[in-house]
Amino acid sequence: MKRVELDKSWNMSLPALDSLRLTGLNVAVIGGTGGIGRALSHQLAAKGANVLVVGQTFRDQQLPRIGFLKADLSSMRDAKRIGRELPAGNLDIVVFTTGIMAGPLREVTSEGIERDLAVSYLSRLVILNEIAPRLGKDRAKADLRPRVFVMGFPGTDQRANVDDLNSERSYKRFVAHSNTVAGNEVLVLEAARRFPDVDAFGLNPGFVKTNIRANLLGSRKLFAVVEWLTSFMMIEPDVYAERLVPLLVSHDLDARSGTMFNNKAEAILPSSSSKEPIYAAALMEASDGLLRRALG
Ligand SMILES: NC(=O)c1ccc[n+]([C@@H]2O[C@H](COP(=O)([O-])OP(=O)(O)OC[C@H]3O[C@@H](n4cnc5c(N)ncnc54)[C@H](OP(=O)(O)O)[C@@H]3O)[C@@H](O)[C@H]2O)c1
Repeated sequence: MKRVELDKSWNMSLPALDSLRLTGLNVAVIGGTGGIGRALSHQLAAKGANVLVVGQTFRDQQLPRIGFLKADLSSMRDAKRIGRELPAGNLDIVVFTTGIMAGPLREVTSEGIERDLAVSYLSRLVILNEIAPRLGKDRAKADLRPRVFVMGFPGTDQRANVDDLNSERSYKRFVAHSNTVAGNEVLVLEAARRFPDVDAFGLNPGFVKTNIRANLLGSRKLFAVVEWLTSFMMIEPDVYAERLVPLLVSHDLDARSGTMFNNKAEAILPSSSSKEPIYAAALMEASDGLLRRALG
């Protein structure tokens, strides 16, 4: 895997976290019940924002300004319901952090989709298609154009197997996960093009200490050993969230739709493949085809 390269052509100067007062800002964090999304929700709410988290298990009932919508986003029907139920017209920012990692054996949802692809990528496409036309349209006064942030692993030159996106002909966990990584990266560029009234950005968190890799290795013991061995290159979710909040609201992002960022909130170059029009169109077509099949 290639290292993400910095886009040196752009000098950003982000507001200091301490200076931020986010009262009145409305944010939805899809995947805000755990890991990075949860840390981000805590930071945003602590700064005064109203945060709506979507996930399976709500863990923050005691915190002010955090609301919850329950969903199983392995289901495209549930993703569509969430898209309809989100108060999109009043949202300023939507962040997608839902994710799992493919395990040793192919798991398939009741709608016939490989589980990692469904949760980590296709549910986002469904929700985005549903909310983008309404996003931010009911706000009386808006400081920012509506923004969508898609978390994945952009800029690492991972390419989807467009001919077998759903891993039906053969299954390898890293290939399956690459399909979600590549899908999310193309989704950012496609959203920037499909939805001219919405700004879309990609986020690469690097390696953050969460449980997301637990399923990948198939054994709890092996997971604990690997996490311990690699802990030197990981950061805590709270540390990453503190870097991310100033980026989410920065005016430096105005007119920069389609940009990707690393875990220091610096602009990075997208993977070269995601900018190939024929490949990107084929990936979106394969994604839309799977959704048509799942949603009937
Ligand atoms: N952590 C890293 O090192 C790393 C590295 C590269 C990329 N990323 C990306 O960063 C994003 C966040 O990862 P993370 O490390 O924070 O993961 P995480 O700690 O495992 O959290 C994942 C989130 O997704 C939600 N989720 C999982 N399955 C779901 C389902 N079926 N329906 C609804 N929600 C579901 C979880 O909700 P519940 O807890 O309520 O089930 C949780 O809120 C992902 O896109 C991941 O690919 C992470």
